[in-house]
Amino acid sequence: MINKRLFTVLGILVLVLAFSQCRKDRVVDSDLPSTPIGTPYTLEIPTGFPAPYIPAGNPLTVEAIKLGRHLFFEKRLSADNSMSCSSCHLQLAAFTDGKILSEGIRGLETRRHAMTIFNLAWQEHFFWDGRAMSLEEQALMPIQDEFELDNELDTVVARLSKDPLYQKLFTDAFGDQTVTPVRIGKAIAQFERIIVSANSEFDSVIRLKTKLEFKDLSARRGYDMFSSETGDCFHCHGDLETAYQLSAFGKDLQFSNNGVLSSVQQLNDRGREEVTGDTNHRSQFKIPSVRNAEFSLPFMHNGSIPDLDSLIKFYEKGLHITPKTDPNIAKINGLGRKNWSIAQKADLKAFMKSLTDYSFLTDTNYSSPF
Ligand code: HEC
Ligand code: HEC
Repeated sequence: MINKRLFTVLGILVLVLAFSQCRKDRVVDSDLPSTPIGTPYTLEIPTGFPAPYIPAGNPLTVEAIKLGRHLFFEKRLSADNSMSCSSCHLQLAAFTDGKILSEGIRGLETRRHAMTIFNLAWQEHFFWDGRAMSLEEQALMPIQDEFELDNELDTVVARLSKDPLYQKLFTDAFGDQTVTPVRIGKAIAQFERIIVSANSEFDSVIRLKTKLEFKDLSARRGYDMFSSETGDCFHCHGDLETAYQLSAFGKDLQFSNNGVLSSVQQLNDRGREEVTGDTNHRSQFKIPSVRNAEFSLPFMHNGSIPDLDSLIKFYEKGLHITPKTDPNIAKINGLGRKNWSIAQKADLKAFMKSLTDYSFLTDTNYSSPF
């Protein structure tokens, strides 16, 4: 009897929690016009990059980007006015936070490691498991996530509506001063879309060929390794044809299980499977860009790899070969694992460093407007 009652109580609790979760994830639409007005902004597309994804209802404008930039650095987005998006996405760390797992409001630990923010205009799925299908949708999630900014959209709207600064910014961007969640999402998405990284040594030598050779020839050997079976990175992170981004953003290869988790650990973070319900997607995570890796450490969805040396050790012989590990990486690492020489490891590291884009890390267009 007692057990039965306990189960009922637990059942209700689970339902309440499930509903509160749904409510938090819901994106509230409004009847107000939300197409940006103002001065059209032309996103400079780096040579060789494909066309970016810019939704028809959210064309880039100078004014909406300006609003989005303010919102990205706005602490009033958090329940206790203590944190903004930029608290976990720091420009000098390629817009990650340097922590293993991100620290949210009131010191709460989030479930995963913060992701980099650049070249997102060329991507279609967001978060490690790809659960957000647009930047507009994504932007409202951390505001409401109880481990991140833990706020209500109504509270944010009420706070910003009172501020003459935002009255002006919203009027310039959307034609009137009304603050709505949809407008907030659109403006933040605009700011994120203009954050581009395409100016590393790798770009000059390989993509643009404006420089004859890498300063350090070791980086050239590392590049050859990266893009051949020796290093075996290109299967997932891009080959010569997609080298402009060095990550796979094709429709067929955006998520992969590269062996970060053991079979048992995979039960705690099923990654892409949590979105699709397909067990073949067990612990597949979004294949991140390798650009700026020197500054975006620690690595992986769980921040488990602290630096470039450990990263190389991991791909050499540290990964878990499980039934769900990508066959591309499992077959080569299978029995013998890789056995790179000390020189080869140094080459790969030199190449990874040639992917650092200092102009992106310090571009004042991406820094706080306050
Ligand atoms: C508490 C730290 C924290 C805050 C605050 C935060 N983020 Fe994040 N961000 C993360 C983490 C952790 C992830 C990965 C979460 C996951 O995959 O489940 C992430 C992922 C993202 C991504 C996905 C990138 C990609 O390549 O898929 C974007 C975009 C992003 N955040 C933007 C924002 C914006 C905009 C805000 C403010 C509205 C914000 N973040 C606030 C920690 C944070
Ligand atoms: C089978 C596909 C696959 C191959 C092959 C592969 N990677 Fe990855 N890589 C991934 C995935 C998936 C992740 C994210 C995994 C996670 O978060 O758990 C990742 C993450 C990374 C990261 C971390 C980036 C970040 O922001 O956290 C770096 C750096 C990286 N890989 C470099 C390499 C290098 C160098 C090689 C070759 C030695 C390589 N990868 C081979 C799929 C692959």
